[in-house]
Amino acid sequence: MPDLISLSIDGQTVTVPAGTTVVAAIACVAAAAAPAAGAPTAAAPSTGAGAGWSATTSATGPAVTRRSVSGALRGPLCGMGVCHECRVTIDGRAHQLACQALCTPGMQVRTALAENAA
Ligand code: FES
Repeated sequence: MPDLISLSIDGQTVTVPAGTTVVAAIACVAAAAAPAAGAPTAAAPSTGAGAGWSATTSATGPAVTRRSVSGALRGPLCGMGVCHECRVTIDGRAHQLACQALCTPGMQVRTALAENAA
């Protein structure tokens, strides 16, 4: 089983395997909160890549990272550092690309959903 690390996404504790990107952790939280019919479930595999992740969460809806200048909620698109739709605040640093950042123990991630609640 891979090493597991815990971090906070919008104040919710998430545990993921080491090497997981921040955007994948955000997607896990969203999937755990609101699985859509036919969508992948939040159930973690017991072995192999992704084994052991879990999320304690309340309903957050689809994966959301930021707001556009017009106020629309936006989420990750390319997953490879090109579109910049995955910008979040990580440990107080704004506009970090969640798809390019690896989760670290104790990391504090803030998305547009938390900014709405503030
Ligand atoms: S998802 Fe496109 S830059 Fe991160």
